[in-house]
Formats: sequence, C-alpha cells, structure tokens
Amino acid sequence: MCGIVGYIGKRDIAPLLLEGLARLEYRGYDSAGIAVTAPKGGLKMVKAKGRVRELEAKVPARFKGTAGIAHTRWATHGAPSDENAHPHLSADEKVAVVHNGIIDNASDLRRKLEAEGVEFLSETDTEVLTHLIARSSAATLEDKVRQAVRLIEGTYGIAVLHADFPDRIVVARNGSPVVLGIGEKEMFVASDIAALVTHTRQIVTLDDGEMATLTAEDFRTYTTEGTSTSAEPTTVEWEAASYDMGGHDTYMHKEIHEQADAVDRVLRGRIDDRFSTVHLGGLNLDAREARQIRRVKILGCGTSYHAGMIGAQMIEELARIPADAEPASEFRYRNAVVDPDTLYIAVSQSGETYDVLAAVQELKRKGARVLGVVNVVGSAIARESDGGIYVHAGPEVCVVSTKCFTNTTVAFALLALHLGRTRDLSVADGKRIIAGLRRLPEQINEILKAEDEIKELAQEFADARSMLFIGRVRGYPVAREASLKLKEVSYIHAEAYPASELKHGPLALIEPALPTVAIVPDDDLLEKNRAALEEIKARSGKILAVAHQEQEKADRTVVVPKNEDELDPILMGIPLQLLAYHTALALGRDIDKPRNLAKSVTVE
Ligand code: F6R
Repeated sequence: MCGIVGYIGKRDIAPLLLEGLARLEYRGYDSAGIAVTAPKGGLKMVKAKGRVRELEAKVPARFKGTAGIAHTRWATHGAPSDENAHPHLSADEKVAVVHNGIIDNASDLRRKLEAEGVEFLSETDTEVLTHLIARSSAATLEDKVRQAVRLIEGTYGIAVLHADFPDRIVVARNGSPVVLGIGEKEMFVASDIAALVTHTRQIVTLDDGEMATLTAEDFRTYTTEGTSTSAEPTTVEWEAASYDMGGHDTYMHKEIHEQADAVDRVLRGRIDDRFSTVHLGGLNLDAREARQIRRVKILGCGTSYHAGMIGAQMIEELARIPADAEPASEFRYRNAVVDPDTLYIAVSQSGETYDVLAAVQELKRKGARVLGVVNVVGSAIARESDGGIYVHAGPEVCVVSTKCFTNTTVAFALLALHLGRTRDLSVADGKRIIAGLRRLPEQINEILKAEDEIKELAQEFADARSMLFIGRVRGYPVAREASLKLKEVSYIHAEAYPASELKHGPLALIEPALPTVAIVPDDDLLEKNRAALEEIKARSGKILAVAHQEQEKADRTVVVPKNEDELDPILMGIPLQLLAYHTALALGRDIDKPRNLAKSVTVE
C-alpha cells in the first residue's frame, strides 16, 4: 500500500529518498514521485507511473534540495498514471503533498474548490488537500495544514513541503502510520520503519490526531488542535540487514527459512520452568484478572485471523476458557455485544491494518479490555491496546505472511499456557507444553529439510486449476491458512473446508482433476480423518497428506515431526508454505508482490 519518505538535512536528497522508496516497494504500489525544495527557492518535482527505478531514471542529475518528500502510490482514486502519482502540487506550485489513506469527503471538497475556480490536474483525493493548504490564509505552514486537515473526513498520513517555508516538513497522522526518524542535524519521516533503519534507529511514532514539524535541527509534535505533545524517541531493534534478501531469491523464501530463529526469539526469556508457566511482561493482566475472564474473542484479518483461530483452540484446550476468532473486518460492522467479562485480542503483523484498528477503537469506546498480539513494535494497534504480546518475528517484507503467522501461533501458545496455569492446567501439563515449545525450532528446521521433495510436488500441482484443503478441528485453521497462501502467491483457486463437512456438499467437487491437501495429525481424530481420505479416494480424487506418518490412502504424504497435540498446528502448515512458494515459482509469479495485494492494508 502507499508509502511515504521524507528528509530534511544536508545530504544529497534524491538518492536518499529513492533508496527509501525502494525499501517500501514491498508494500505494493503502481507509481512513484519525489519533490524537493530547491536551494534557490521554489519546488521541483518528478513523478512516474511504474517502478521506483523508472522514477529514478527520470530524476535529473542536478536535483538538489534542502528538504524533500517522496511517495509510492497504490491507486484508490484514479488509475495509476504520472498525473495521479504523488506528490501533488498546488496551482501556484508552492505546496507539495504526499498522502496515504483515503479522504472520504473528497468529492464534496473538490466540487466546492472547482466552484471557486480551482483547476484539478489529477483524479486523486489527495489533490484536494494540496489546494486546501495552498489556499489557507494562515501565517504558518503548521496552521495552514491544521486548517486543511480539519476540513477532511477520512484517513491520512501526510507530509507537506511549502516553498515559502523551505526549512521544514510538516506531517500529520489520522489512521495511516507516520514515523519520524531522529538523526544528528537531520530528520526523516516515513510511513514504515523499513525506510528509516539504514539511517537511524531512533524513532517517534505519531498518534492519530497528531502532527509534527521537522527541521534539520529538531522536531516537535502537537495535536491538530495545536496543543504540544511530548514524544520521546524509542530505539528500534530491527537491523537494516533484516530488509536484505541475504542470499535468497525472494523474501518469501528467506522468511520461510527464518522461522526456527524467529520462534526462538518469541520464546526467549519468557519460559518459567520453576512454575511451569510463562512470563508475558506486557500483558498488564494480573492472575486475579486472568481468572475473571469468561470468554476470549480474537480479531484479525487474513493470515492473522487464521493464527487467531489456532490461538482460540489453544486457549480453549489449555485454559478451558470459551474462545473464538472472527475477522476484524466483519466484527467492526456488526454492532457486536461487547461484554465486560470477555478478553478481546487483536492480532496483526503490521499493527496498522485499518479494519483491526477500527475494531480495537470500537471496543475501547465500549469499555472493553483489548490485548494486542502484534509484530511491529510501537505500531498503532500495539499502542491502542491495553497490553499484549510482541511476536518478535522480525521485519516481514514479503507481502505474503509466513514467519509472522508461525510466531503468532507460538505467541498464542504462550498466552494459552499462561492463562491455563492461572486456572486448572496442571504442573505436568505445563511442563509438557513447555517441552513441546522448546522442540519447535529444531522441528521447523527438520521440516525445511524436505524442501526438495516439496518442490517436486509443486511441479505436479502447478497444473491444477483448483485445489481443496481439508482439516478437522486443529487441522482446519491450518487448511485455511494453507489455502490462502496458495491462492495469493500462485493465483490457483483454492478452497478450505472442515473435513467433517465434506459429505455436506464439497464431495460433489471431487474428481481426478481436483487435488485435495489433507491435514492429518496423529491425534484423537486420526481415524475420522482417514475416513475422509477414503471417501476422496473412492471418488478418484488425488490426495496430498500432511501427516505425522505415511497415509495409505494418500497419493503422497509429507511427514512432519510430531509435537504435543495442542502445538501440532504450529508446524503442520510449514510444508504448505513451501508448496505455495514452489508452485508460484513454477508458474513464474511475482512472489514477493502478488498482484492486487499490499503488505499492510491501512485503508478500508
Ligand atoms: C496473507 C496476508 C494478509 C494479512 C492481513 C492482515 O499472507 O499477509 O492476509 O495477514 O492483511 O495483516 P496484518 O497481520 O498486518 O494485520
């Protein structure tokens, strides 16, 4: 989704901003642009449809500036084109704006401005904002921006340059991330830490309704009402190297292979052997409060929702608290009953997904307690939550989530164990789960050793027009996630069903041309799952099983190491990440940036 980078300081601005844009490419975009305040006055701007390298080719050698803003656009209002790319300039060419988000009342504002004689050069909602800022009669750039954003309904993260105020960049946030990077006699701004970490690890994340002024020497933050706010920079731990491919051909491949280390990180320092439980420092939930929880409701989107489904089962199994997961995108619109005895948990890799954030805000408004299970430290969902667990997967660059899914399921196992041990879970079961958690990194590495075998299988499946994924109870969320992975990265249609529901409809689909991937753990439902395989085989369906032992009825079985029953779902999807990856590779897909998708969905 759209990306913003800005810089003010003494360095050569264009290469720095272009490098920042390149680091945001993973979010998905269709055009890019850059504007700087020229040393001799006025603004200079270049925009290009297509990739950042196409923009780079258009930027003249002498494109110097004292401050600059740049943008990658993901089309919402108006098709991808040079004109619709950001920045947008005002008619007098004094104001340049880059914007992430959506202005809901853009058409009304546009009509009003057109009636006043303003000519629009693009179809975007952002251009409205540019003209509003330029037409403000306020004396300072801060006041001009403040007046303009007050007229706007919708979401925004913006960075603004003004030719009459060349010593500053003014930024504002409402619903779209804005992060300041604090340097020595230089300041940065971006919509994503990825664009900053090569330059500084000192960051300040703006809250909704907050603005900031950046000069080369300093920064200050304040609300859109003008009240000063205090913002202490925090140090981010993510290394710039985490954003490199490190010898892999794609980020997806790299991130799949990072999973053992990532799981090691989410466990580190949290296990308490003495009491057979875990310490979750940021939970802000004491034992008495934990015991008062009557229900758990987990909210997330896409892959995070699937991780939440696994989490809900673990919480039910280990803590015996009724729990379920629901897409946050649905929950926020259905006027759900908000219950004071329910613990709500928001799950998000980016911590910025708009639907999840909106659900959290709605819950908070209604007095609920919300925890966040989040990857990006300091992200909006992490900050809006009352407490939570960081999943420490490290930066996930591929649009398609893999390592963060795995780490999120491990984080849920920790939470389930913690809640269980404040209730009825025995010391022996606590020990058993802890031992299982400790085995995970090694077992992940063992699964990844089967990559060549899975690659071979993928060649067979690349011809399929459609695939069915089935699983029962613990296996069902695994099947759902594997089906999502395959469709988003290979574009092969895939459908996930509870194996128990086969007879109630989907069996009609079974024929040799529709392969079925079945999740078959060695648990109390093994025989039931075997019966489902028989049913498919009897109808000449082709079966790939992911199981703890060879399955006679399957054409092929990928055998994965057995862990504790409750923890098996953490591992069983990993071979299917590889299957999705190698199928997409065989089909020549753009693996790290599948069509039409964006890494963090900060708009509705
Ligand atoms: C799938 C995928 C998406 C995200 C979803 C939520 O591979 O990445 O389905 O899981 O958009 O994103 P986060 O977790 O950032 O809230």
